[in-house]
Amino acid sequence: MTEEFPIAVSQRGSVVVWTIDRPDRMNALSRATLLAFGKLAREVAANASIRAIVITGSGDKAFCAGADLKERATMTENEVRTQLDIYRSELAPIDRCDKPVIAAINGTALGGGLELALACDLRVAATHALLGLPETSLGIIPAAGGTQRLPRIVGEARAKEMILLGRRLTASEALAWGLVNRVTAPGKSVVDDAVEWISPIAEGAPIALAAALEACDRAFDVSLELGLELEKVSYDKTLVSEDRREALAAFREKRRPKFQGR
Ligand code: COA
Repeated sequence: MTEEFPIAVSQRGSVVVWTIDRPDRMNALSRATLLAFGKLAREVAANASIRAIVITGSGDKAFCAGADLKERATMTENEVRTQLDIYRSELAPIDRCDKPVIAAINGTALGGGLELALACDLRVAATHALLGLPETSLGIIPAAGGTQRLPRIVGEARAKEMILLGRRLTASEALAWGLVNRVTAPGKSVVDDAVEWISPIAEGAPIALAAALEACDRAFDVSLELGLELEKVSYDKTLVSEDRREALAAFREKRRPKFQGR
């Protein structure tokens, strides 16, 4: 991998795996890494053969150690402001992706590394993973979505505990807090585990999955009344799909449905 494109791309059936390939910097997020994520996320939206995305880091030490602090040290205050805008613009297509995105947290996920995982829909962690937002101990705050996405996932009190105390959670604590969905059995690759675990997604009905993501994501932005209206709008996208008819036919014929994403 060149620094111009520091993410390795590989495919497992209909699942694409994006691996941050900067082991000498604990897979920290340089500007080039953020731009690479944004490019991949925009491109994958148009690729109908991909049903899900798994994001991980190279090696088994770090998922991602957050901002590249060596790059950051070379930046002026204005350049750091621009960098925060880049976090926002390049993580947004991951957050808003209409295909499920799964973080396979193969090791330490700190700062922007955890914030990258928070922008994903589901999180699987290796047993030795550590998750934290240490920014306040560095005299700053999480500003790649951490103060907004973490409370939505674990609740206000626990988010504040992590952010104010700089508390790092083990994988089993993160599971208990609902910060990760699953902890991989010891000795097993977290990416293999994630890919196996999401097989219902890889074989699922893409229009329904996209509509479900859209409806769930809206739940945080609007009143219940409006959310229920928007849920109807999302449902309607599935109502007119061939996949819905295929599921009904498969039920009648006592076979597994073959979803085409149409
Ligand atoms: N940016 C750039 N380089 C980083 C990095 C980061 N965020 N985190 C680690 N590295 C580099 C280290 O500088 C070191 O390289 P070097 O030997 O050339 O100096 C290499 O990765 C290994 O890191 P090291 O600290 O020796 O490994 P460790 O196992 O003892 O500790 C961490 C791992 C992740 C706990 C520790 O490196 C750390 O705390 N990093 C900073 C994390 C952080 O605060 N991120 C939030 C930023 S807002």
